[in-house]
Amino acid sequence: MNNFEVIIYEKIDGVGHVTLNRPQALNAYNLQMRDELYQVLGAIKDDTEVKVAVFKGAGQRAFCAGADLTEFLTAPPPVIARQVRWERDVWGLFLSIEKPLIAALQGYVLGSGLEIALACDIRLASEDTQFGLPEAGLGIIPAAGGSQTLPRTIGQAKALEILLTGQWIKAEEARRLKLINQVVPRKELLPVAERLANKIKSFNPTIVSYAKQAITRGLDLSLEEGLELEARLGNFILSSR
Ligand code: COA
Repeated sequence: MNNFEVIIYEKIDGVGHVTLNRPQALNAYNLQMRDELYQVLGAIKDDTEVKVAVFKGAGQRAFCAGADLTEFLTAPPPVIARQVRWERDVWGLFLSIEKPLIAALQGYVLGSGLEIALACDIRLASEDTQFGLPEAGLGIIPAAGGSQTLPRTIGQAKALEILLTGQWIKAEEARRLKLINQVVPRKELLPVAERLANKIKSFNPTIVSYAKQAITRGLDLSLEEGLELEARLGNFILSSR
């Protein structure tokens, strides 16, 4: 797990720390990063010692400035692309993780950077953070779930405005829109993320996982179905005591 090129993965006292590590390219998301992230997410999902994970960007300027534009539209032929997607569905894997994921955001959070953040459960951002989905201006649409996760997070109207106009949002507005949970001074970003992670990992991991599922899976259900899900998860807990 340590021989990655563009991701640093560290497991410290039950917390998985994931650093997107291409600071010279503002941590742009390239194919190498996709492959490494896929392995890291699998480890977070399966490793019972990991109770919670924190995602951050290396360097000072960005969490992630989106898809690597030097690889842009150099995708393999559709059949191979589909096979790769089938074999390494990073975004499906992200959303299937039942442990809490925390995004510690700074600087540029663009395109797939924002989509990674949206795949996390709690988003913290330093005051200098800027968010955007530049895809439409590049002649594409989001490919990592952003067209679904953004409106589910901030509502349809503002999600459409951000996607259709390419407008960027600053940290304080992002907090007002409920895109992020908290804005913190830069030097506090990682300490606050650590404190949250430590609090979460002090609880029973099964309960934490059920609580996450009740909310994240429940949001895609009708209220009636969501209440059934909550009751089912609650019964599992009671019956396992
Ligand atoms: N893909 C590949 N390289 C990227 C990148 C990306 N998405 N974003 C930034 N970089 C690289 C730059 O090419 C530059 O490399 P260089 O020093 O070798 O020239 C380095 O990161 C620093 O970026 P730079 O553009 O010089 O910084 P800036 O402060 O002037 O501008 C941005 C910052 C984020 C406004 C600008 O880099 C940008 O618009 N990036 C592209 C964002 C984007 O459209 N992402 C795709 C979303 S789908």
